[in-house]
Amino acid sequence: MKLALRPARLDERRAVYLGLCCSDTTALHLGAPDYPESPVPSWDEFLRDFEDFYFEPNKRAQGAVLFIERDEGEEGGKGETIGCACYACFHLQPGLAELDIWLLRREWCGQGYGTAALRRLIETLAQGQGIREFILRPAARNARALASYRKAGFVDVPNAAHAATLARVLRPEFHAAYADGDYGPAATALLTLRLA
Ligand SMILES: CC(C)(COP(=O)(O)OP(=O)(O)OC[C@H]1O[C@@H](n2cnc3c(N)ncnc32)[C@H](O)[C@@H]1OP(=O)(O)O)[C@@H](O)C(=O)NCCC(=O)NCCS
Repeated sequence: MKLALRPARLDERRAVYLGLCCSDTTALHLGAPDYPESPVPSWDEFLRDFEDFYFEPNKRAQGAVLFIERDEGEEGGKGETIGCACYACFHLQPGLAELDIWLLRREWCGQGYGTAALRRLIETLAQGQGIREFILRPAARNARALASYRKAGFVDVPNAAHAATLARVLRPEFHAAYADGDYGPAATALLTLRLA
């Protein structure tokens, strides 16, 4: 499978918003009826969540949004954007990154693209920024996301160990803002992957 990850520019932020909040796959991870506890962000809320640094080449140590593109040569795809991946490090202890990923069309889900893009992102962050541990926090009932992340090598942190793991990985000054996760403490899963 030929996939490329391309960092999104600041002038592409609207396209990222549309893919995350107004696409065919939005309801698979955000908003009512399935995820009422994590409403679909408005444009202004998105701007608050996805600050400029996510799109600035000289701030890549803090985090970035990347477009997932099917390379030329992939049947049916000519450098076509099929999703977005995101990483953030600013709120975590050194050597860690939190990841997120979403494809743009339901028809592209279940074909291995998400898992392949995740593996590529991990490889890139390990080589480029020396990241050794990754976390993911999907909704605990997002079965397809969980299946994909486990395939990529992530391991579930048992609920009873969430608090201790979050205390270890989050910088103390960000703990209050980020410990609960997007779906609240009871409904947010926690998975980690540590490189050897
Ligand atoms: C989550 C996502 C990125 C995963 O990427 P993907 O390309 O669909 O993942 P893959 O095809 O590699 O793997 C999906 C796995 O889930 C399994 N799966 C699909 N539907 C499932 C379900 N309802 N329950 C359990 N497993 C399911 C598939 O069988 C597949 O596993 P397999 O290859 O062992 O058969 C993608 O599905 C997506 O964008 N979903 C919508 C947005 C989203 O939920 N993002 C995650 C936010 S945390």
